[in-house]
Amino acid sequence: MKKKLVVLSGAGISAESGIKTFRDSGGLWEGHDVMEVASPEGWRRNQELVQDFYNQRRKQARDCQPNEAHLKLASLEEHFDVTIITQNVDDLHEKAGSSSVIHLHGELTKAQSSIDPNLVYELDHWEIKKGDKCEKGSQLRPFIVWFGEPVPKMDEAIQLAKQADIFIVIGTSLQVYPAAGLIDYVPKQARNFLIDPNSPGSGLRRDMVYIQKKATEGMKTLEELLLG
Ligand code: OAD
Repeated sequence: MKKKLVVLSGAGISAESGIKTFRDSGGLWEGHDVMEVASPEGWRRNQELVQDFYNQRRKQARDCQPNEAHLKLASLEEHFDVTIITQNVDDLHEKAGSSSVIHLHGELTKAQSSIDPNLVYELDHWEIKKGDKCEKGSQLRPFIVWFGEPVPKMDEAIQLAKQADIFIVIGTSLQVYPAAGLIDYVPKQARNFLIDPNSPGSGLRRDMVYIQKKATEGMKTLEELLLG
């Protein structure tokens, strides 16, 4: 039986594909107060601004391609039973060919009813317009887990983390909970790796092998360590 390899990825894995991270300088939030574009309050205050913000992200992500880090994670499926838990809302893991991807914070390629979070729709275009409605007649909103909203996929992610033989953290500042707390569920005997050019400070645990490199270079090193 193949060993279980679980990945927690964040914005940093998509940086080399041209998608800016959230908290690095020049990050996505610059010019935008986070609570303005990523909270239910922000949505209530200014739907147009929030819709436009995610429409632009969707348009940008549509033209982005997976990089070597996404591709290497996909090819690890030849050797391991791989599940990717991502905080990213882009679809670059899927484009790279990964077959098991859990999006903790939602997906840009989908829209959600603004009155019933269970109503989620695939989008085949980049823009959600004012007047685009769900089957219950309410405005469609981005399918994004905003600050203060529950993270419905969290329980599934915790169960996966608990079963990991190998756990890889890549490209996340580990500042946003509950996602960052997943590392606490990884069994003691599992092999832990962290790939990030910048140290995540308190998120770095003593039992982690820290590969201080960008995602694409870091994945090369990891591949050597895992496959020899
Ligand atoms: P952050 O922007 O907080 O962190 C990005 C991490 O990627 C940092 O630790 C960087 O050092 C690292 N990084 C930068 N370039 C890199 C590269 N080329 N290769 C590898 N790592 C690199 O992004 P997240 O941790 O993903 O939530 O942020 C978590 C959540 O905060 C997001 O999912 C988003 C945001 O609010 C929602 O949208 C709900």
